[in-house]
Amino acid sequence: AYVIGERCADVVDRGCVRECPVGRIHEGGHALCIHPDECVDRGACVSACPVEAIYYEDDPPAELKAYHGDSAAFFFHAIPGHDLPLRSPGGAAKISPAAVDAPLVARLPKRSI
Ligand code: F3S
Ligand code: F3S
Repeated sequence: AYVIGERCADVVDRGCVRECPVGRIHEGGHALCIHPDECVDRGACVSACPVEAIYYEDDPPAELKAYHGDSAAFFFHAIPGHDLPLRSPGGAAKISPAAVDAPLVARLPKRSI
């Protein structure tokens, strides 16, 4: 699976969402998240991102290794105050933005872009 790292936070260009042919990219509070089990490695999202936030899970920049687990947390762990976990929704199309973030993303300082 491909993973969205911290460069997405507060940029949220959404070009990746437009290019993913199978709709596996979900919107959180201030970053987006690829479903680690439902992404089918099409790779179209990578070049669509203007800030190069997306990478393959087996080849992460060292500082971004933790984001694979963070994506899983977004889908598989309950986040207080929201009706997560989403688990395996089968695509993002029927799901509204979560308004919350995975734990690591939630701890990032807000940026003015
Ligand atoms: Fe979609 Fe990107 Fe995965 S285009 S299938 S989220 S590699
Ligand atoms: Fe974020 Fe890049 Fe997609 S900024 S929303 S990962 S196009």
